[in-house]
Amino acid sequence: MNYRVPTGTKDILPAEMYKWQFVEKKIIGVMRRFNYTEIRTPIFEYTDLFKRGIGEATDVVGKEMYTFLDKGEESLTLRPEMTASVIRAFIENNLGEQLPLNKLFYLGPMFRQERPQKGRLRQFHQFGVEAIGSSSPEIDVETMLVALTIYEELGLKNLSFKINSVGCPVCRPDYRKKLVAFLSAVKDQLSVESQKRLETNPMRILDSKSEKDMELTVNAPMMKDHLCAECLTHFDKVKLLLNGVKVKFDVDGKLVRGLDYYTKTAYEIQSENLGSQNALGGGGRYDLLTESLGGKPTPSVGFAAGIERLIIVMEAENLSFGAVPEIDVYVVALGETAAAAAMPYVQAIRKQNMVCEMDYLKRSMKAQMRDANRQKAKFTVILGDNEIAKNECVVKNMGNSEQSSVPLPQLDAYFQNLFAR
Ligand code: HAM
Repeated sequence: MNYRVPTGTKDILPAEMYKWQFVEKKIIGVMRRFNYTEIRTPIFEYTDLFKRGIGEATDVVGKEMYTFLDKGEESLTLRPEMTASVIRAFIENNLGEQLPLNKLFYLGPMFRQERPQKGRLRQFHQFGVEAIGSSSPEIDVETMLVALTIYEELGLKNLSFKINSVGCPVCRPDYRKKLVAFLSAVKDQLSVESQKRLETNPMRILDSKSEKDMELTVNAPMMKDHLCAECLTHFDKVKLLLNGVKVKFDVDGKLVRGLDYYTKTAYEIQSENLGSQNALGGGGRYDLLTESLGGKPTPSVGFAAGIERLIIVMEAENLSFGAVPEIDVYVVALGETAAAAAMPYVQAIRKQNMVCEMDYLKRSMKAQMRDANRQKAKFTVILGDNEIAKNECVVKNMGNSEQSSVPLPQLDAYFQNLFAR
């Protein structure tokens, strides 16, 4: 029997791991500079949280969740996204009472049972932020700048922001009526999926990927043209602020995010190197979510972005993931006595903060040297019975092949000096 990874999941193999670590380090560094603090919540939550938080009519809740009963017959769901979980944790731990504005970030695996394709997996990884407690348009723009800074510092080019306003309960009901009236007139020509959405979630029809639907909705009324005064002022301010920080964006009246909690600002970041159907990341404001999950009214905004998609774009643009990890010192020990004698030196070198390796396969000197080369060791230490008898060893610089004798008791200090230079 051959076992394989579940459909839509991937192993991140050791040879790829440095790319992930490079990207994650950048994300964490930028989050620190923007003063966002990390939050980690459980991988699974009670199912009702996502039903209530994300919305029953969404694809995520309706079709894509990994939901199961545990042995106590509780319905649990692997998290398909983080916003609902973060707000649950915010309410449950009274974070709002401790700080008027909580700026949180996260990074980790999410689960959606989608049809796998390039950049679309069933277990994927997101990084993201939630800024909980401010209604200022400035913070909408700050969340966009977090994403942009991470991408720019990783070297991504040809990025674009699409922004829209999806209104609020004051302006949306009237708009929704107008939209439904417009779409009902062409109902029979809409895709089957969109016909269903006409009842449940008509705004989502605007971002249908069906060509016919796209054609039929070209002249549909757009939320952005029917905003109430408050939403309009907010949207205008966001645009003004984006211009102020010189962030390019396009207003896209058809941008409707796939999760139900959004109010006012909605945005997506796209890369030319990902294909137009796929966003690198997306987010927006969700001023009513905390209240709908049982907390006090708390205006909030955030975004999340896929790490797999980011790595796809970086590879397509031939960007650097930093140096492939190398070994500083490889101790070539010949024979059992030398191997035993080598261990304390290997340990001492490691304690001096250097990457040090030795052979555990009882290989010949030639094979050990080959291994040291393969692992791109900067130096090798050759340690045989002779060297041990003389209490010294041969250090070889693998770059220029120079060799020198070093007294064994001074070996760690020798490398410490060498690498300090
Ligand atoms: P989302 O648009 O559903 O938003 O997901 C954000 C990003 O996660 C996508 O743009 C994409 O990069 C990545 N992503 C989503 N699904 C997959 C998948 N199946 N495979 C690979 N990558 C995927 C949210 O999740 C919201 N919670 C964002 C947010 C935070 N809004 C406010 N705060």
